[in-house]
This record gives sequence, C-alpha cells and structure tokens, in this order.
Amino acid sequence: MVVICPECRKEHHIDENRIPPNVKVAKCRACGARFPLPVFAPSPDTETAPGTEGKKTRTIGVALSKGGVGKTTTSVNLAAGLAHAGYDVLLVDTDTQGQDAYMLGAKPKAGLTELVTKELSPQEALCQVRERLWLLAGGKSLAGIKRLISRKDFGGEMTLSEALKPIESAYDFVIVDTSPGWDPLTVNALFYVTEILTPVSLEVMTLHGLLEFLKSLASIQKYHNTMALKYILPTFLDLRIKQSAKIMEKLDKLYGQLLCKPIRYNVRLSEAPAFGQSIFEFAPGSHGADDYRDLVRKVAGREDLFES
Ligand SMILES: Nc1ncnc2c1ncn2[C@@H]1O[C@H](COP(=O)(O)OP(=O)(O)OP(=O)(O)O)[C@@H](O)[C@H]1O
Ligand SMILES: [Mg+2]
Repeated sequence: MVVICPECRKEHHIDENRIPPNVKVAKCRACGARFPLPVFAPSPDTETAPGTEGKKTRTIGVALSKGGVGKTTTSVNLAAGLAHAGYDVLLVDTDTQGQDAYMLGAKPKAGLTELVTKELSPQEALCQVRERLWLLAGGKSLAGIKRLISRKDFGGEMTLSEALKPIESAYDFVIVDTSPGWDPLTVNALFYVTEILTPVSLEVMTLHGLLEFLKSLASIQKYHNTMALKYILPTFLDLRIKQSAKIMEKLDKLYGQLLCKPIRYNVRLSEAPAFGQSIFEFAPGSHGADDYRDLVRKVAGREDLFES
C-alpha cells in the first residue's frame, strides 16, 4: 500500500498488516509531518490482513417483504453487537433508502454500487464504520444495479454473490439488510446468503403475510438449497397489547426452535438513528440494548457474550 505524505507528497510504501491496530497517525520520514493513516479494510487479497485467514464466514440476510418491521434496526444493531463482541463484520445495505449508513452516522462516498460495477476496488467501496465493522452502503445509486440485473439474460440473480464472494472470507459475519417488497436486489440477497433472519412486527404482523413470504423463500430454496430460514425475530413487542401475546403464542407453536426472544417496543431504538449510534452506544442500559444483546448471543451461539 502506498501512502502519500500530505505535506511533502513523498510516497511511502508500507505494509498495512504490520501497523498495530491502535496506531492511527503516521510520521513522514522525509519531512517529519504527522498525518492520519487511511483506514484499511480487511482484504481477501492480503493474507495477513486482520482476521482474514481461514474464516468460516456466515452470511445472514435480514428479510421480510413487509415494510417497517425492524429489518434495518435489526441489521445495524446485530452487526454492531457482533462487532462489539469481537467478530469481524460486514454490513451490506441492499436498499435504495440507504438507511444503514445514516443509522451508524457514516457518510460513505461509495458502497455496494461501486463494488458491483467494479468502478472501485473493494478497498475503496468499503467503509469502516466502527472497530471490526465495515459497511457496503446502499442508497439511490442501487437503482442502476437493479436495471443492470434486469437486463442480464442469464444469472442476474447471482450478481450480488459474484461481487461479495471474493471479499467475504475476511469476515466472520456478513449481514445483508434488504428492502421491503421483492425487488431484484432482494432476490439477489436471498441467492447469496445461507441464513435468513425474519423480523416480524407484533404490531402490524399478519401470519398470512409471513406465510406468503416463506412460500416465496421456498421457491428460491429450490435453486439455492444451502439457504435456510434460521431465525424468526418478533419485534415491537408491547405486552399491553393483547394481540402481541397471542401472536407470540402462535409463532411459538409454529416455529418453536427458530423463534428468538422478542425485541420489545422501545423508544430508544427509534431515537438512536438520529444520533448516528447503535443502541449499544446510544442507550446501553435500555430494553432495546438488552434485547439486541440477547439476539447477538443467540446468533453467535455464545451465552457468555457481554458478561462483565
Ligand atoms: N423495537 C422497536 N421499538 C421502537 N421503534 C422501533 C423498533 N424497531 C424499529 N423501530 C423504529 O421503527 C421504524 C421502522 O424500523 P426499520 O427502519 O428498522 O424497519 P424496516 O423493516 O427496515 O423498514 P423498511 O421496510 O422501510 O426498510 C424506524 O423508525 C425504527 O427506528
Ligand atoms: Mg429498512
């Protein structure tokens, strides 16, 4: 990697793998100027980049065709929680709303579009948003990718897989946030991931909507048989509302093992995005943070996480 001193423009050839993680500033050997080091994303090309060796990456799609059920809130907080627990995590936003970057207080110049079109290298398309957490941002430019997918005669549904497969081994988890509905990018996301996490809002949920979604999922499974529904996550639980408890009962009967502990309705979860913070940063003592910590433990399969 070549780093250019902003003062004297001298080029320095450095091995980013030898920079200790806590070192953020460099000193130019030629002119003595100090300047911030660029952030190095883990790269599949560099054998010793942080955590790149022998990772068994898990790919999790957060999906339900219904809007406003907590997909983005879950993707962001699950990704942030896993990173906080010590895993290397890539969060991929496949939605033109581009909410994931906003929720993490990031303003990336590039993202998933540039990775898919190969306009930029993976290193340039990725944005490190926290320690151990990288983002491939979504946003309006993804509309062009949807057109590109639709124009392909063959293999359009593999577009996202082709872009992500070469970089995924640098991460323990790739979390893919999807948009509501069934757009080509959501279908692509479902062809890429092997695990599905479906948030179901206990406020607006109808079992019918969930069953319809699961039918569509099954039709994709025919062609992508390593993908499976792994988690059903009830969201917006409010026990003052009778319907919530009833739906929980039904879900438990239907999905027992797959059912996660619910995420309660918690106003802190809706306030955190405006501050660009995860729930763990914004309100670590809130119900919202407690509930998402439970989800992180379940997904990681580690009950000991976050014990202090
Ligand atoms: N458990 C919760 N308690 C209170 N508010 C929540 C909770 N979960 C999410 N919210 C809020 O509800 C709104 C919708 O959540 P979110 O954006 O995560 O849903 P989504 O499924 O990603 O929506 P879309 O389908 O439009 O992408 C947001 O304003 C979010 O802050
Ligand atoms: Mg969303």
